[in-house]
Order: sequence, then structure tokens, then C-alpha cells
Amino acid sequence: NHCFSKPSDGFLYCEEVKVKDVMEVVERRPFYLYSKRQITRNVQAYKEALVGLDSVIGYAIKANNNLKILEHLRALGCGAVLVSGNELRLALQAGFDPTKCIFNGNGKLLEDLVLAAQEGVFVNVDSEFDLDNIIKAAKMAGKKVNVLLRINPDVDPQVHPYVATGNKNSKFGIRNEKLQWFLDAVKAHPDELKLVGAHCHLGSTITKVDIFRDAAVLMVNYIDIIREQGFEISYLNIGGGLGIDYYHTGAILPTPMDLIDTVRELVLSRNLILIIEPGRSPIANTCCFVNRVTGVKTNGTKNFVVIDGSMAELIRPSLYGAYQHIELTSPPLPEAEVLTFDVVGPVCESADFLGKDRELATPAQGEGLVVHDAGAYCMSMASTYNLKMRPPEYWIEEDGSIKKIRHGETFEDHLRFFKGL
Ligand code: LLP
Repeated sequence: NHCFSKPSDGFLYCEEVKVKDVMEVVERRPFYLYSKRQITRNVQAYKEALVGLDSVIGYAIKANNNLKILEHLRALGCGAVLVSGNELRLALQAGFDPTKCIFNGNGKLLEDLVLAAQEGVFVNVDSEFDLDNIIKAAKMAGKKVNVLLRINPDVDPQVHPYVATGNKNSKFGIRNEKLQWFLDAVKAHPDELKLVGAHCHLGSTITKVDIFRDAAVLMVNYIDIIREQGFEISYLNIGGGLGIDYYHTGAILPTPMDLIDTVRELVLSRNLILIIEPGRSPIANTCCFVNRVTGVKTNGTKNFVVIDGSMAELIRPSLYGAYQHIELTSPPLPEAEVLTFDVVGPVCESADFLGKDRELATPAQGEGLVVHDAGAYCMSMASTYNLKMRPPEYWIEEDGSIKKIRHGETFEDHLRFFKGL
């Protein structure tokens, strides 16, 4: 029951639409193609997992900040997790309920904290200076701020070091030995701060739910300690981080239900409202990045498929050595030889690859090639390097129609930065 499938005709489909047919009607390639229904199904899986718990699904906007997608997630009942003033502005624009929004980050700016205070979103306290700024912002806005302490629980998420965040030497959160200092500081500012909960976020692409449980055990202990001092806190925020099946090997990975089930009893035992902050898991598998093959070449022992997309539009393979599954959109021609290829873009860097050592039927020029699981941290991390302007985005609507949900960036957009200078 997944949106992308390749039935026996050998064509790749997004829901009931051939990706190849979408390629023929869009304004340009490469582009991102989503299934709106898959987004709904993914959020539904979280909602079903959370039945019986008081909870907030705080979708992490950094994973994908397409306004149309945000509006859809909001309509499905999600809140939002923000890491900048602009993400907060976008969340408000998309209609998210501020009381279901959480402002995170180790370097939140005073002006953004003032906006957060005015709008009444929850704010995570990350450090001594951050707390100072939150107090200042509360005074400037004339509003009391609901805060959660972001505790760094020192649990190893067993992921790439660039996406691990809850280790003791990480730049995020406060260490438990400083907890008392923060509690005293909050107590000293009853007009500016209301402590409502505790937060942790371990990292991203986590594929073992025991890790979340280990952290939750530590976190409810902290919550007990905090409550013993007279704070009436009600929220446990266990962050995001659930991984997805990037490898498409059919391996059974934990589902939202598995994740929530490992913490359910703990949450109920302390009568807590659970906040989760998923970014990748609701959105990654709802999208593929659609390219056209520019040509095929061989150098030394390497075969290359050169496509029109690149590290500029999708940087995860270059940045983290991440694997994202690659497929052709049409069945191979009978004479096409199956070879091992590096799939590369046109950008002037050897780091510009979308996949290494992939077995593919030698594609013809102009053929479609997709990079799967491109819904999270792909478009939102795209750049305009080599003046490859950011691509347009489309989704397949519930009724099967193709709809543009973001314009492609243009050369004129680039020139605009220099107007009048
Ligand atoms: N909450 C906090 C505080 C976070 O820092 C993050 C992600 C999330 C929630 C959402 O985590 P998720 O459910 O998406 O794993 N660019 C990297 C991922 C960076 C994740 C940063 N923090 C990638 O492409 O893999």
C-alpha cells in the first residue's frame, strides 16, 4: 500500500499515474513528485499509534517546508516544530495552532524568541544564554513563555555522527548535571517563564525503538525530579528521529506504532502529554526526485549515468554518504545491458553523485530516473550551486490529477538579488 509501485508493465507509478507521463506534462525537469494520499496515510499511522494518549504530533518543518504540504499536514491535525523565526512565520501562514508549535534550537535569536513569545508557542530551553534570551523576549513581548527543558540524555542513537544530537558532547540541550541550575533559574522568573515539560531529541534515521525507550526512561526520571520540586509539568517531548526504509530491501523497520508502544506505559504512568517531533518519517517516502538521463559514459573501470539533477537539488548522498534507492521510470529496452553505474549530476564536483555502484539496465538518453524517498531533507536542503535553480514540486491529488505545489526557481529570481545595486 505504498504510493510508488512498479507493476508488471515495468513502468514506475505514483499512485495510479505513470511517472513517465508526469515527466511529459511538467514545466521542466528535474522535479519533485509527491503523493498527497501517502502523506495522509503516514500521518494516519501516527494518529492510530497515539490512540489512548494525550499527544501532539509536532511535524518538524525543516524536513520539508513546502507551504501546500504544510497546509495539508495542519489539516490532518499536526502541530509544528520550528528552528527559526522564518519557520515560525511559515507555520503561522500555514495556519498551525501556535499552542501545538514548539520552537527548538541551540542558537535561537532574540528577535525570533520575541515573535515566539508573542505568538504563544512552546519554547525549548537549550542553554544558559538561551534561557537569558527567553526571559528577555518574555519581557519584551509582555507575555509569559511556556518552556520545556531540552535535556541531553546521552543516549547513542547509532546513526551517522552528523545526525546524532543527544550525545553528551553534542552542541544541543543541557546536561543533566546542570538541571538544578536551570530549575532554580526558572523559579526565579515566575513572571516570564512557565515550565511545562521536558524535551529530548536523540538524532535522526533511528531504526531501533529501544533507543527511544532508553531515553524515555531517563526522561521520566528527570520529570519526577522536576515535579518533586513543585513544578506542575505535563509534557514529555521525545523528539523525532524515526528512520525509514531507504534501502528498499523489504527489511522490517519499526513503525510509528512500534515507537509509541515502547513509551506508552511510561507516559501513562506519569500522566503526561506526549509530544513527538517526526520530520522524516511522515514525509520522506511520499516523494521521489524525477530526473532525465542526459547520457551514459565510461571512464577507467567506472560507468556513469549522467542525469539532469545533482547534489544541488538533493545533497544527502554527497553530504552523509546516504543511500537513496534509484530506479528507471520505464521498462528497459530489450538490448539494454545491465551494468553497475555511478549515478551522477552535471555539477563540477566529484562529490556530485546521487548513487554509487547501482545495477541498472543501461538507460537511453532522455529516459526517466528517480531517486526515491526524497520527501525529507532533500528539497529543503537544496541549493542553487552552479546556478541550478531549485526545482518545481508536484503532487498527485486524491483524485489522481497532477498538481503543481511549488514553482521552480528561475534565473530571473537570481537576478532579483542584484536589482538596484
Ligand atoms: N526535533 C529536533 C529537535 C530535531 O533536531 C529534528 C531533526 C527533528 C525533530 C526531526 O527529526 P526526524 O524525525 O526528521 O529524524 N539533514 C539530515 C537530518 C537532520 C535532522 C535534524 N534534526 C538528513 O538529511 O538525514
